[in-house]
Amino acid sequence: MERPLITGTTSLVGLIGWPVSHSLSPVMHNAGFAATGCDFAYVPLPVRPEHVEQALKGLVALNFKGANVTIPHKQAVMRYMDELSDAARFTGAVNTIHIQDGRFCGYNSDAIGFLHSLLEADFDPKGMRVAVLGAGGAARAVVYALARHGVHSVIVLNRTAERAAFLVDDLAVAFPNSALSFEPLTPAALAGLDGRVDLVVNTTSVGMYPNVNASPWPEDVPIPANAAFCDLVYNPLDTVFLQQARAAGARTIDGLGMLVHQGAFAFEKWTGCPAPVEVMRQACLKILTGG
Ligand code: ATR
Repeated sequence: MERPLITGTTSLVGLIGWPVSHSLSPVMHNAGFAATGCDFAYVPLPVRPEHVEQALKGLVALNFKGANVTIPHKQAVMRYMDELSDAARFTGAVNTIHIQDGRFCGYNSDAIGFLHSLLEADFDPKGMRVAVLGAGGAARAVVYALARHGVHSVIVLNRTAERAAFLVDDLAVAFPNSALSFEPLTPAALAGLDGRVDLVVNTTSVGMYPNVNASPWPEDVPIPANAAFCDLVYNPLDTVFLQQARAAGARTIDGLGMLVHQGAFAFEKWTGCPAPVEVMRQACLKILTGG
């Protein structure tokens, strides 16, 4: 697709993070703008940690319509927001900013992106029993999305068990209808999930490029019968974790859907137009598959 002209009327959005060079968001959003004819352009904005406040003021001064925020600034930008969505408040992180009349609205679109990725795969987690591997920022968004959607229960398993305990403590009061608990991420705890879960979600970075041969699920621990497996890692798309699950006959959902749907949320906030989800997916897929 030809790159649309950037003219005097083009609205700007971008990605602030450090580094930002690896991100698929510029390609995904610019493909979406081109396909819908939205007069927007998305630019990478590498921002050093000590420049976050100046960068945000700069976005307003330069009349940007918004931005995505990535590592390591997702927490640091929160204090500058004029409004926060529930998801941003509960997860303690902002990854999408919409600027209107100089005011910052901060969102966390990972939660809705994750939920939409399950629903589009025809997997509705309502009432289900879920195990979440990991207790970092991504896990927070996932547990929030699941509890808010009305899952029966979530067990958070993490290498550092205290971090899982914090996550559960933070969310349990707000969502009393879902039973939230935590366990250490050990082979014994994973083996003990058999028959107790309907869905297992990997939110850890284990298996992500360049460590593509790693998996958070040890080879000698049986895969729980009848559970579906979802990996948030999208590089590579077919992780060892998903390969193990598939080899055991389990259903698998890869991380591309979450990437695309969190982007679609931002696209719609900024432009006010429906996001061309398939175009955005194909743009990411092309890069991820080296096409
Ligand atoms: P993100 O925002 O992507 O979730 P993060 O907050 O750094 O990133 O969290 C990374 C998660 O991956 C954590 O749950 C981390 O476990 P710890 O809390 O014990 O650090 C998990 N993780 C990273 N490397 C891991 C490994 N080799 N084995 C097990 N868990 C790992």
